[in-house]
Amino acid sequence: MQIAINALASELRRLKAAGVKHVPVSEASLSALRHAVAGRRVEVSVADRAMVAAPVSPEPSRPAPASPPLRPAAVVEPRKVTAVQLPSAPAFTLPEGDKAHRWSALRELVLNDPHCRAQVRAGKKVVLGVGSLDAKIMFVGEAPGAEEEIQGEPFVGPAGQLLTKMIQGMGVKRGDVYIGNIMNWRPQLPLVAGQEPVGNRPPTEEEMTYCLPFLRAQVDIVNPAILVALGKTAAHGLLGFGTFEVLGEVRGKWHEFARRPLMVTYHPSYILRNPSNRAKRMIWEDFLQVMTRVGLPISEKQQAYFLDK
Ligand code: URA
Repeated sequence: MQIAINALASELRRLKAAGVKHVPVSEASLSALRHAVAGRRVEVSVADRAMVAAPVSPEPSRPAPASPPLRPAAVVEPRKVTAVQLPSAPAFTLPEGDKAHRWSALRELVLNDPHCRAQVRAGKKVVLGVGSLDAKIMFVGEAPGAEEEIQGEPFVGPAGQLLTKMIQGMGVKRGDVYIGNIMNWRPQLPLVAGQEPVGNRPPTEEEMTYCLPFLRAQVDIVNPAILVALGKTAAHGLLGFGTFEVLGEVRGKWHEFARRPLMVTYHPSYILRNPSNRAKRMIWEDFLQVMTRVGLPISEKQQAYFLDK
């Protein structure tokens, strides 16, 4: 429950920073919160839950999948979302061998890691990156969402389909790059009995710190020429929590992670929320910088993508 309350508090802080002055909260929800803090069984309005999970925001963040039909009220199992204490970041050594051998060993390790497994619900999957082990470009996203935890593959939901199109726009195939996430599980959300969680929440610093060695190991194995952080959470994970306030400070610029050049850009879900050519062009200009740096050919047509107003 602590995670849910922290997620709510951070969402409210974000809304405040975005200039939102009032957030309607029903008496029922206030009372649910009071009970939640007291650790009792609570009643939560699904409408309020959806509002908290998917607020309107100018900051790029991940979209909520289609909501299930609203029901008047549902019972939250009190300890389903628990602040599971994570140990400090795991230390491990991968076997010697070629990339495929080392990657398979890493995959086994991550998919069977007891702390990762404890974070996923029955029937859902821990997710490791996918793609070419010889990729020159490695994309790093935030965390698996609803679709990803079912399929066990990063970026296969709506944002992932858009990312795939953007990669194709660079003139390469999805399978030619490597795609990973800061997190290996979908951060837990409050559960309403009998319903799938709605939306996603950004991982906590503790969760990201736990998973970061797994991402470093993937960077080590693949040895990409360039990394691309997709969105604020990925950028915080790679640049360090607290290194910037708003993504605009670091986006479109070169940074460094694990001694490799790192480009920071928006998460593709930003375009899902704001499908204007202006937004697309901002991300595309970051992609053009990446293409130039890895030496991909850029046609006049590619150069001019999304310039139309
Ligand atoms: N968004 C992410 O950041 N990662 C995924 O794997 C899917 C959506």
